[in-house]
Amino acid sequence: MRRPAASASALSEDERLTLVEADRRLRDDFASDVRAGLTAVNKTLPCRYLYDAAGSHLFEAICDLPEYYLTRAELSILAERADEIAATAVDGAALVELGSGSATKTRILIDAMLRRSKPLRYVPIDISRSMLEESSRALLADYDDLEITAVAAEYRAGLRLLRREREMRKLILWLGSNVGNFGRRDAAKFLAGVRATMAPGDRLLVGIDLRKSREVLEAAYDDAAGVTGRFNLNLLQRINRELGGDFDLGAFRHRARWNERLGRVEMRIVSQARQRVTVAQLDLDVVFEAGEGIYTESSYKYSPDEIDRLARAAGLVIEERWLDAKERYSLNRMAPQSA
Ligand code: TRP
Repeated sequence: MRRPAASASALSEDERLTLVEADRRLRDDFASDVRAGLTAVNKTLPCRYLYDAAGSHLFEAICDLPEYYLTRAELSILAERADEIAATAVDGAALVELGSGSATKTRILIDAMLRRSKPLRYVPIDISRSMLEESSRALLADYDDLEITAVAAEYRAGLRLLRREREMRKLILWLGSNVGNFGRRDAAKFLAGVRATMAPGDRLLVGIDLRKSREVLEAAYDDAAGVTGRFNLNLLQRINRELGGDFDLGAFRHRARWNERLGRVEMRIVSQARQRVTVAQLDLDVVFEAGEGIYTESSYKYSPDEIDRLARAAGLVIEERWLDAKERYSLNRMAPQSA
């Protein structure tokens, strides 16, 4: 990666953008993952395929829904704490973001970091190449003192790249409670991987949604306007478009259920009748029973104790935890545990 120029503003928007495609496998795996998922005893489709161009935009719409409190709660904490957070990063540190999406919330931290030192290098890592380019160009148009190295990759490939950049001082963001889309053990493993890219002075900011009532949770993941349903069912549309499927979207419904014991919201696409679906390019016929579901995603929720345990298991210590006014959501500043 290039070092930031002394004055980034002397450079054009194009000169301030480097796009890295760290993950070439992404596209090819869709076909084999769909085959494996739809032929399994308990049908499933991996959630990373939710985020194509259409899915990424639908997810942006989810973030604005009245029921989806997560984004607003996180934003309110960031707005209140941005300067405090920026002050914990060493001067000249890069801002790295895992799963950056539209990077709307990130602007608050970019502002705060630019108030302290210029120029700033921003390294967004996202699975959606189209969203990555779109958000990077929008940021560069608005900020003269920003240089962006945008990485189109899944998390794992993104971490591999960060390990090669260990000498880069950084503040890492993992927002949106995306940690909740991992199982608890995998979440700790993944965070240990993040920890392995960090020097003692680096910091990690993790947004984590808290356990709460079934009513609030199920509404957040199954909104009245049906946007979340369209987001989930977009997966079937993607199979139709990219793999020659003939899913009748009207014959499936989105369902979100809070599993209290496991502490997770379970997202499924449920068949409304017994039906047969063909996926031409996979030469595949699949029968669905009435009421049979395709499991697409879990969203794990954490108690403060569970967050402490998660951090400890990953070799991290929590320096600060901030909650929003309604105490629905947490932002956790973590540091590598000293040896
Ligand atoms: N990271 C988001 C979350 O767990 C993802 C998400 C929100 C999601 N709504 C969804 C995934 C609906 C699948 C279906 O909050």
